[in-house]
Amino acid sequence: MPLRRIALALTLAACTESPSPGDDARADPRNAAKVALGAKVYAQHCAACHGARLEGQPNWRIRLPNGRLPAPPHDDSGHTWHHSDQLLFGITKRGLVPPYAPAGYESDMPAFGGKLSEDEIWAVLAYIKSRWTQEVLPLRAEMTRNARKR
Ligand code: HEC
Repeated sequence: MPLRRIALALTLAACTESPSPGDDARADPRNAAKVALGAKVYAQHCAACHGARLEGQPNWRIRLPNGRLPAPPHDDSGHTWHHSDQLLFGITKRGLVPPYAPAGYESDMPAFGGKLSEDEIWAVLAYIKSRWTQEVLPLRAEMTRNARKR
């Protein structure tokens, strides 16, 4: 079977069954109201670093002179989609602190727990997820299969 057909078969299976284990209903990219709210939150709080089109900062894989990493893209070209919704929620709320990063890890990613409500954080994740394509969604389901154990 050509790869595209396999991906399509996986996608159809994923639609008829429950969402993949890495998905949380609170970040449902098919909920239009949530995605619309998330787009606003994104433009106001995330776009300055992660890019208006989710494209990330230039050369995002290369450390800055101060040793920190630039902001990665949130679209298909980044690695955000590798992670479960729960993990993305935790990073957005608390920043890159343990258990999301080693103790003492230095990062420019702010903690949004004091700035955004939990609903706003779920909404911005729904918006980011709404931008992922079938190029990565079946792979994400595979990669987050063990996410519940974390
Ligand atoms: C001041 C700049 C800045 C802002 C604003 C910002 N981020 Fe980040 N973000 C970063 C940087 C830099 C990293 C990478 C840090 C690292 O790996 O050390 C990052 C990483 C992340 C990661 C981990 C990505 C991954 O693929 O593992 C998530 C999730 C994330 N940001 C979500 C958000 C969301 C959602 C918002 C808006 C609510 C936001 N960020 C706003 C700078 C920012």
